[in-house]
Amino acid sequence: MKNNIYPFEGKVSAEMRQQLLKQHPALFWFTGLSGSGKSTLAVQVEYQLHRQGYHVFLLDGDNVRSGLNQDLGFSIADRNENIRRLAEVSQLFLSAGVIVLAAFISPLEKERELVRQTVGADRYFDIFVDTPIAECERRDVKGLYQKARAGEIKDFTGISSPYEAPTDPFIKIDTLQMKEEEAVKLIVEEIVKIVSGER
Ligand code: ADX
Repeated sequence: MKNNIYPFEGKVSAEMRQQLLKQHPALFWFTGLSGSGKSTLAVQVEYQLHRQGYHVFLLDGDNVRSGLNQDLGFSIADRNENIRRLAEVSQLFLSAGVIVLAAFISPLEKERELVRQTVGADRYFDIFVDTPIAECERRDVKGLYQKARAGEIKDFTGISSPYEAPTDPFIKIDTLQMKEEEAVKLIVEEIVKIVSGER
């Protein structure tokens, strides 16, 4: 066995957890530019699902980067490591039976593919929060675009670092066309179909 490591399985199976929690765990992965609205939507979706009785937990870029991933920056290598760890954390939550919402820029297709492979294609659903860069920059909620333009932040997504939009996401939210409440409702409805076992 590699490095003398011997993974083992406990006596509580995925089915036993499913029965206890009465839900089918899955990962809903929000991707989009900084300031696109990922966290705003994910926070509301988490709240609505909780109120409907689901066991759900939101993992969010700025929060995880303040703890577990505080050693990582924004080079492509560090972003890859950020997402790799998040894929593993998501997998642990899914193993515990919990529905996971994750809100990370996750700019590269390759990174999102790794997440999909880590948790399994049948449990991975990507939600593309599609806000054009011009609009993110206009909103500039955290003032980061201004700093990036001034050269005070390097490797900034959409300005000096790439963002590859998903080509065929599970859900795409056009935030210029859709109001926040409408988007939340749509996402919650689609998630419920999956986690209730209806689909
Ligand atoms: S990711 O690219 O590795 O997926 P993640 O979602 O964890 O990024 O973190 C993005 C958040 O970090 C942004 O919302 C923003 O608040 C902050 N941030 C700081 N520096 C940068 C940068 N260079 N590029 C993008 N976001 C940054």
